[in-house]
Amino acid sequence: MNAISKPAFDVARIRADFPILAEKIRGKDLVFLDSAASAQKPRVVIDAMVHAMEHQYANVHRGLHWMSERTTEAYEDVRDSIARLLNAPDRSNIVITANSTASFNLVAQSYGRSVLKPGQAVLISQMEHHANLVPWQMLRDASGVELRIAPITDAGELDMAAYEALLADGKVGLVSVTHMSNVLGTYTPAERIIQIAHAHGARVMLDASQSVVHRRIDVQALDVDFLAFTGHKLYGPTGIGVLYAKRELLEAMPPVNGGGDMISSVSYERSTWAQVPHKFEAGTPAILEGIGLNAAIKYVEAIGFDAIAAHEATLTEHALARLSAIEGLTIIGHPQDRGGVISFTLKGAHAHDVATLLDRQGIAVRAGHHCAEPLMHRLGLESTARASFGLYTTMAEIDALADTLDQVRVFFK
Ligand code: ALA
Repeated sequence: MNAISKPAFDVARIRADFPILAEKIRGKDLVFLDSAASAQKPRVVIDAMVHAMEHQYANVHRGLHWMSERTTEAYEDVRDSIARLLNAPDRSNIVITANSTASFNLVAQSYGRSVLKPGQAVLISQMEHHANLVPWQMLRDASGVELRIAPITDAGELDMAAYEALLADGKVGLVSVTHMSNVLGTYTPAERIIQIAHAHGARVMLDASQSVVHRRIDVQALDVDFLAFTGHKLYGPTGIGVLYAKRELLEAMPPVNGGGDMISSVSYERSTWAQVPHKFEAGTPAILEGIGLNAAIKYVEAIGFDAIAAHEATLTEHALARLSAIEGLTIIGHPQDRGGVISFTLKGAHAHDVATLLDRQGIAVRAGHHCAEPLMHRLGLESTARASFGLYTTMAEIDALADTLDQVRVFFK
């Protein structure tokens, strides 16, 4: 008897895990193509948070009672899950923050102000979103550290020759670049970026806000120094994010926020800090969100990144073929290595109008500058519409997008 092989990726079964996907928008099926802004949540995440509130909740790291001890265990387990997800050497490499933005601000305000010196530079790229740009501008203005911007090519890839040239004088102390652009979908060559930066004496911070959702990341294989991502794009809750950093860097960095939980001892005269990573985590943490993110990480791990990446690659290929066949539609950026994010413009129609007309058919896309205003200017655009895919996206949804865009095109003609 032949064994019946289980399909590698059963999108219908996965969709059944996400209650919101059964919602109707003005009587139409929800077609949610805005996962790059924030992803929907599977039942296991919702249940984990509700269960904690109903059965197992108290403040963490403080109490000696049963509830506090159990809640601390449940919350702290997320640190192990994050370390496993990233293949970090140890759970102490994982600082829990509020989101990616908070992780960049922490590195800018701590490492940037204490380890980097005036005359040194931070190098970012033209395709960063505001979270990986504004904190460095604030550092530059406060400390005299220079801010350099590596150009991108018209295809929407990092210009590697220009990138290396910007490192040549040895003044760059830190490179901070996206691993996957939230506008262009471009995967940057992280390994090469890191090797080149290290060869020039610079540390590297990767913005994995988009990439961690779609591909397995191994911080030890990459030899990356800092890495940031946020929970809510990884099918977890809002209000929780991650900073991974090498231990020696965390040890050298002063805390930025003072208060409870980050101290070892406190007197009226002075305080001493807790061990890393806790010295960076002042105040009561996002307990329920930690429990929710833990459930989200276990959920994606159970599906497996190979299966997720293969599914999304098929979707992206189909979407590129369907969208590029629409008259007057221009896909922005043509990177060799692209994830499930496609920005586009439609001739004669403002991106906001395109998004509004799609919404009337229940199709959710993002429109605007996507928190990357300077990149829009680099591309000579004010705004684009953007479709982004998650592990629950289907081929039928891509077809619905393409068919409706064709109607929108006719409307604006
Ligand atoms: N950075 C998020 C996005 O791309 C908010 O939509």
